[in-house]
Amino acid sequence: MSISKSIFGALKNGQEVELYTITNKSGANVSLMTLGAGIQSLNVPDKNGVLGDVVLGFDCPEYYTDPDLGYQGLVVGRYANRIRDAKFTLDGVEYSTPNNQGTWTLHSGGRFSFNLWNVDDVTDNSVTFSFFSPDMEDGFPGNFRMSVKYTFTEDNTLRLEYTVLSDKRTIANPTNHSYFNLSCDGTKTVEEHLLQINADKFTETDDDQLTTGELGELKDTMMDFSSMHKIGDRIDEPFRAIIDGIGYDNNYCLYNSEIGKLAQAAILAEEGSGRKMEVWTDLPGIQLYCGGWLEKSGNPGKKDSPVTYRRGAALETQFYPDSVHHPNFPFKYVDANKEFKTTTEFRFSLL
Ligand code: BGC
Repeated sequence: MSISKSIFGALKNGQEVELYTITNKSGANVSLMTLGAGIQSLNVPDKNGVLGDVVLGFDCPEYYTDPDLGYQGLVVGRYANRIRDAKFTLDGVEYSTPNNQGTWTLHSGGRFSFNLWNVDDVTDNSVTFSFFSPDMEDGFPGNFRMSVKYTFTEDNTLRLEYTVLSDKRTIANPTNHSYFNLSCDGTKTVEEHLLQINADKFTETDDDQLTTGELGELKDTMMDFSSMHKIGDRIDEPFRAIIDGIGYDNNYCLYNSEIGKLAQAAILAEEGSGRKMEVWTDLPGIQLYCGGWLEKSGNPGKKDSPVTYRRGAALETQFYPDSVHHPNFPFKYVDANKEFKTTTEFRFSLL
């Protein structure tokens, strides 16, 4: 294993974004950036041994900070996904969070994603980034530090270990928002990709995509991926939890709901390249989002790989969205001065 450091570029405000590239013996590599502790590129082999970049993104740092371009590769904190009415109550106190979309909070307003993280530790196969947010910043209680340690292995696994520490009881829902396209073909959407999600229920949502607290059965619906099939097979079928034309943007309730126990959550594969990716997590949910809110054309990207409509599948491991409003959802509050840890792995192999 080896690691190298370079400068990715500068943001409009002049801040330099650093890039750490971890390479294993086979040459497979991942580049991680200080901006949003993000995954900038991830090059893994196809069935012929040819390396290709399986994550969408940009050649220039500034684009990453545009929320309309979909949080490409970035870590989301403190609390991913939506918070209804941009407020929540904890231990009898009401907290107001950023109202950055509709009437709700999305991805906590993006502070953790669109700013530079510190580099705490570097080894030959890992980088640890951290981000500090003071008490009541964006309305959240607790002087709060989130770190994420990325480790890349000889067998092409990228492990993300998040650690959260707060001096007050609070909430956290860390995720990574990479969009995967295993074909590495800039003309292809993910509709031809095969997908399996190890879940038989999903969180029901209203017309604003906010969870209602109900858990719906996936069986016999267009959202069921309990057996592997193409993402595009039924993506445009009307369904109550799907916004017409957008396609999948929903949380699946994983079979394994034991918080802290690492289990396989999903498998994404692409027959043309032979690439396969397993997602493992110790969290109870995963958001499948296929980039249906991205523009159909005109967006930038990496060289000939634009960040456009349905070009990538985000598989965001998480607590169910808006768990703070639904006591029936499996959730773990962050206790004062007690570390909360969670792990996600993206494991690459061949079909
Ligand atoms: C949300 C989408 C949103 C995307 C980018 C996903 O987690 O569910 O609705 O467009 O993030 O912000």
